[in-house]
Amino acid sequence: MASIGLFYGTDEGHTEDVSERIQKLFPDGEVEVINIAEASNEDFEEFEILILGTPTLDNGGKQPDWEEFWPNLYSIDFSQKVVALFGLGDQVGYGDYFLDSMGDLAEAVSGQGATVIGEWPIEGYDFGASRALTASADHFVGLAIDEDTQDDETDARCEAWVKQVQAALG
Ligand SMILES: Cc1cc2nc3c(=O)[nH]c(=O)nc-3n(C[C@H](O)[C@H](O)[C@H](O)COP(=O)(O)O)c2cc1C
Repeated sequence: MASIGLFYGTDEGHTEDVSERIQKLFPDGEVEVINIAEASNEDFEEFEILILGTPTLDNGGKQPDWEEFWPNLYSIDFSQKVVALFGLGDQVGYGDYFLDSMGDLAEAVSGQGATVIGEWPIEGYDFGASRALTASADHFVGLAIDEDTQDDETDARCEAWVKQVQAALG
């Protein structure tokens, strides 16, 4: 059985694509990829380790399937769970809202007791504002992917981040 549940939402498929690329960087069978549109609380409860992926849409808004699932997050006990996050956004077109939804997701699961791992440095990105920053503002709360303007960086970013997450998980 897979030991990591990767839940993603997507409008145009980029987050699904990145989810599958991340899955392939782990050993075969370790990561189960689940579309949040088809997920239930029970699916979350199966896993102690979660990877959650979301794009940001509509000037800092949630992807609709994540938005629909959102109330469920508050009825899941994350206190024994480790969560790594990744977000997709467009730092040029939406630079004042870059990856906001990933930040909202981090806040929601942290509030429910999750241990969040996988912070990612802000170097190499050029944006105005983001709700996805750590308190020190020198990292994002999770992996930052920009398929709109930096797609040539995505594979290397995913590889480095997965190594970092694997190290954090021991
Ligand atoms: C209407 C629209 C609004 C968007 N708003 C934001 C935003 O506020 N912040 C951001 O970082 N990216 C924003 N984006 C960029 C998307 O997050 C990005 O294109 C992402 O790769 C889409 O992922 P998906 O294909 O999985 O839906 C927006 C894109 C669209 C089409």
